[in-house]
Amino acid sequence: MSDLVIAIDGPAGSGKSTVARAVADLLGWSFLDTGAMYRAITREALFQGIDVHDAAAVAALADGATLTTLPRVTVNGRDVEDEIRTEEINVAVSVVAANPVVRSSMVARQRELAAAQPLGTVVEGRDITTVVFPHASVKIFLTASLEERARRRGDESEDSVARRDEADSTRIASPLRQADDALVLDTTGRDVDDVAQEIVQWLKRNPSN
Ligand code: DC
Repeated sequence: MSDLVIAIDGPAGSGKSTVARAVADLLGWSFLDTGAMYRAITREALFQGIDVHDAAAVAALADGATLTTLPRVTVNGRDVEDEIRTEEINVAVSVVAANPVVRSSMVARQRELAAAQPLGTVVEGRDITTVVFPHASVKIFLTASLEERARRRGDESEDSVARRDEADSTRIASPLRQADDALVLDTTGRDVDDVAQEIVQWLKRNPSN
């Protein structure tokens, strides 16, 4: 088992998932999309008719839920992979992700999942470099222009992406912020493979590995 982690944070549409997957492929490591976990809990709350503003009910749901992200996103045995990237979830997930009890349950699962991988894990989210793995081998903060981030999100408007940026960065529980020692990469107009290669080179140069 390995405690090697590459931690990647950044706002919606900054390229985290695509870049993290590419880095994991290059290294033969596992990949963990933590946003999918918050989305799956949100989907399950809506499915069960739980109001996402009912903090205690959502916390109980999160604590008891079985959750997978690979090979498919499932919650309580139901495949929700194709149901977690809708506008309804985009709006509700900000409320669920601001719930501190939900966060501590997800953080514990993320640490366990990474520790169980044979080689290493590329983990991406909002609090990965700051809270979940503050001692990761490599910490990356990805950015890109709002225009490009909304374009990458396909159907999501610039307003919706900006609203989520605001919610993610100003919440009290583990807001999105740049770790002091993170390598900041602006992915605007950059090729995925090029960014992934830069991260792998950074890992090789990092003396702690
Ligand atoms: O990366 P994403 O857009 O799929 O994330 C969905 C939401 O979950 C996003 O609004 C922020 C939240 N999130 C979080 O608070 N912490 C994480 N580690 C990952 C995602």
